[in-house]
Amino acid sequence: MLDPDKIKANLKTKRIGGKILVYNSTSSTNNVAAEYARNKQNDGLVIFAEEQTAGRGRAGSEWLSGRADSILCSIVLTDSKLNAELLSLTCAVAVAETIGKTGRSHAKIKWPNDIMLNGKKVAGILLEPKVDKGWNACIIGIGINCHQKKDSFSVQIQPNATSLDAESNSVSDRILLAKRLLTSVDQWLETAEKNGEKAINRWRELSIQLGHRVTLIFNGASFTGHCIGIDPEEGLILQLDTCGVRMFDAAHTVIAK
Ligand code: BTN
Repeated sequence: MLDPDKIKANLKTKRIGGKILVYNSTSSTNNVAAEYARNKQNDGLVIFAEEQTAGRGRAGSEWLSGRADSILCSIVLTDSKLNAELLSLTCAVAVAETIGKTGRSHAKIKWPNDIMLNGKKVAGILLEPKVDKGWNACIIGIGINCHQKKDSFSVQIQPNATSLDAESNSVSDRILLAKRLLTSVDQWLETAEKNGEKAINRWRELSIQLGHRVTLIFNGASFTGHCIGIDPEEGLILQLDTCGVRMFDAAHTVIAK
């Protein structure tokens, strides 16, 4: 079981992880975090769970994980200074770097919120804004696959999913990973709030789509084009095959290819 005191030991973050709660089982850490986000004093609070009974991913998908197989956590921001697109890409950078720091420097970002190792998804991020009482609260839900074996994943997602252990033939240390994750999120949020361009530049280095063809579904319609960049307010920028440049925001877009 993840121990909050062990995660907090020597944690040198400024904002994230001052208070950490670990649930044995809950519906979704994002649900628990949303309750805490009503109180502004809970900024930076982190909820971990060993098991979720109704874990969710983007676009209405389920997020499944065996007990204690993953990092399942949600970070409460009660007042986010970053707009949705910049926050989304900053979180992706923070999670990709966390996984890179475990010695797997090839962790990459598949916009908007998938973290990839060797071409397979190892982590996902679900941002849920909670605009309440005039402030911009947001829940950053993060799932990192740690101990799963190939057959831990459903047959449908097996070809595209992996875990840290499966890629390294070793057993990952979830406490260390949790510490690194909170440190990375803390540092990247601070960096992006001071200078968004730094987070964007790092995103560019870690993106698997920049410079490549992308097909996506935006509000139910399909678009294909060459990915030429990311805009901190409008989202992914495509030079469309059909001509013209168009931007796509993360909240309404699903990547098809
Ligand atoms: C995705 O890739 O679709 C996003 C997955 C996000 C999963 C995490 S696990 C912790 C938190 N609680 C949830 O219910 N979802 C997020």
